[in-house]
Amino acid sequence: MNVLLIGSGGREHALAWALSKSPLLTTLYAAPGNAGISELAECVTLNVDDHAAVITFCRDKGIDLVVVGPEAPLVAGLADDLKAADIPVFGASREAAALEGSKGFTKDLCAEFNIPTAAYKRFSDADEASDYVRERGAPIVIKADGLAAGKGVVVAETLEEALAAVDMCFEGGFGKAGAEVVVEDCLVGEEASFFAICDGETALPLATAQDHKRVGDGDVGPNTGGMGAYSPAPVMTEAMIARTMDEIILPTVNAMKSRGMPFVGVLFAGLMITEKGPELIEHNVRFGDPECQVLMMRLKSDLLDLMAAAAKGALSGKSVQWSDDVALTVVLASKGYPGSYDKNTPISGLEQAEEDDVVRVFHAGTARGDEGTLLATGGRVLNVTALGTSVSEAQSRAYQAIDRITWPNGFCRRDIGWRAVEREEA
Ligand code: AMP
Ligand code: GLY
Repeated sequence: MNVLLIGSGGREHALAWALSKSPLLTTLYAAPGNAGISELAECVTLNVDDHAAVITFCRDKGIDLVVVGPEAPLVAGLADDLKAADIPVFGASREAAALEGSKGFTKDLCAEFNIPTAAYKRFSDADEASDYVRERGAPIVIKADGLAAGKGVVVAETLEEALAAVDMCFEGGFGKAGAEVVVEDCLVGEEASFFAICDGETALPLATAQDHKRVGDGDVGPNTGGMGAYSPAPVMTEAMIARTMDEIILPTVNAMKSRGMPFVGVLFAGLMITEKGPELIEHNVRFGDPECQVLMMRLKSDLLDLMAAAAKGALSGKSVQWSDDVALTVVLASKGYPGSYDKNTPISGLEQAEEDDVVRVFHAGTARGDEGTLLATGGRVLNVTALGTSVSEAQSRAYQAIDRITWPNGFCRRDIGWRAVEREEA
């Protein structure tokens, strides 16, 4: 099969690596890809917003499957246009991508289909939202309805903070995403991420992970896209996985089907494991980044076979095999991230970092400079990922590998997986 992979992050490098192991693969193209992906795929310049250009490319190259990594092209309807042109695609339709693109849409779906989630209300008026916030009291959570690159959420500890967040949303602090606001109760528990692969009707559980969103050690400082992750999530016991499938994933897939917008792709449920059990914080319509990197390290099944089956509604009867090992990834970021940072700073030592075959370095924001020098071009730049029989073993392997990399302009957290390591030591 000829495959076109859309995206340029560490998630897409991990997907490219897993796809390239498939005996079903003929040629892998990536648009736009990055320096790491270019070792596995032919990277092409394509304007992904120009759906007609993507379709022309697919026809020229005889593409049998398009795999969409990030959410934005899905929300923009790329999967719909490809399907209309008879090009198979792994990724949600524009309507189904509302599960991520509109928090209000998902909350209403949860209310209608009894999916456990925090009590909430939707608002398009600041005064009404403020009145509701006063009525519920703090702590309380204020969310911009639309896509805000992971930044549209304020967990307010005090009433003042909550009211300021409401004003900030309606004054355009999150851009267009905040023209509508969801206010919801604060859930208490441990967070975990759950991934399922769906073909519109059948959903198969993939695996679980936990990530670290804050930039600093000890989970402090500003939120980021994710500074590290590990899989599996120890809090997700067999029983909790079964409940998540029965109470959240399958009801979501059934609800979407009954609404005439069947969900195809990866459903990524952000969960809070509360005293009552799993509750939905949010749905995403794609793999997490960097959660995908740890999942791909553990996946034993053929990813291309699964994605192609999902795209044609043929997942029923398939199963997904995982390694029992733990995978842990640490994000190396440019100094200054998630604020501003220098670009095109040189990195070396990746070969040494990858000497051990249980370690892989996935590229996120990288490019090749003159004479093949590796350059950091983004905020999150490398994902150093290791397998181990325990979280602490995977963690120490990842940090040993990191210590072989030379990048004066980079930094990483030194405590990825701390909660799970503490659990193992207890
Ligand atoms: P989201 O973008 O919806 O995943 O929210 C970002 C982060 O905010 C989540 O990972 C949680 O840490 C936190 N969060 C969101 N909603 C809630 C909630 N209802 N209760 C507690 N924390 C929340
Ligand atoms: N790492 C969180 C996300 O991809 O949304």
